[in-house]
Amino acid sequence: MTNLSKKLGVIVGVDGSLSQVGMYSMSNDSQLIWYGEVLTGPKIGAFLTINQNDVRIIATVASEKVVDQQNTVRSVEFDNRFHKNSINRVITLKTKGVIEKNKFQITSQYVPMVGNEVTLTTKEELDLIFSLEPGEDSIYIGKSLLEGQPINIPINKFFASHIGIFGNTGSGKSNTLHKVYLELFRSRYRSSILDSSQFFVIDFNGEYIGKDTFEIDESNKKIFEIDTRSTEVGQKIPIKNHIYLIQIF
Ligand SMILES: Nc1ncnc2c1ncn2[C@@H]1O[C@H](COP(=O)(O)OP(=O)(O)O)[C@@H](O)[C@H]1O
Ligand SMILES: [Mg+2]
Repeated sequence: MTNLSKKLGVIVGVDGSLSQVGMYSMSNDSQLIWYGEVLTGPKIGAFLTINQNDVRIIATVASEKVVDQQNTVRSVEFDNRFHKNSINRVITLKTKGVIEKNKFQITSQYVPMVGNEVTLTTKEELDLIFSLEPGEDSIYIGKSLLEGQPINIPINKFFASHIGIFGNTGSGKSNTLHKVYLELFRSRYRSSILDSSQFFVIDFNGEYIGKDTFEIDESNKKIFEIDTRSTEVGQKIPIKNHIYLIQIF
């Protein structure tokens, strides 16, 4: 399979999880067509594959530079004419994981070696990176920005865990939260989830109080308006048994 991938360059230096690639060509097209597939060129953030015997090391492009080997800033003559054979294009890759025996895993067990060839990450490899074990239940949440690859996340691994969504104001956190739970409730597990689980949304901005949020209608959801400002007894959060509340002041 690897000899079908487009060869882009060769590892010329390794420094921990970063490695330098000397590129065979000066081209930095953003997309390349290879065996009929449109693949993302080596732009910052995109995936590339480092081939090391039976193992494919998956890395992303961290930086890119073009260096003139003959004319430097220290040149006396400042003869900066472009000279094809004096220009080198070097990209830095950051190791992310490994494809071994057709499975992707995040590990730094393998380190690129000088001389390893770097190829475009194929569609088949991207599938292995993003996808799931065969038959695993998943929800579709969108496409990756750089590769346009569909992103499916495994229901069991994702929701039976602790999750945080981080980002600047306006970067899409609230939207992502809604999308993730909307797709969970749209899955074939909807009725069994609603039968056996309770979901509490603590919403400081009133973003999720609309009628159709999470596509859960009013028979399955209740909005409590909690207000500490008024002295009248307001609505209370329903809690089974007891929990502890710690106030620090
Ligand atoms: N995936 C997306 N595609 C297009 N627009 C989006 C997406 N996610 C968020 N937005 C838009 O960006 C703006 C900010 O999103 P929001 O989820 O409120 O961000 P945050 O909660 O991080 O401040 C909103 O106008 C929203 O409609
Ligand atoms: Mg928000």
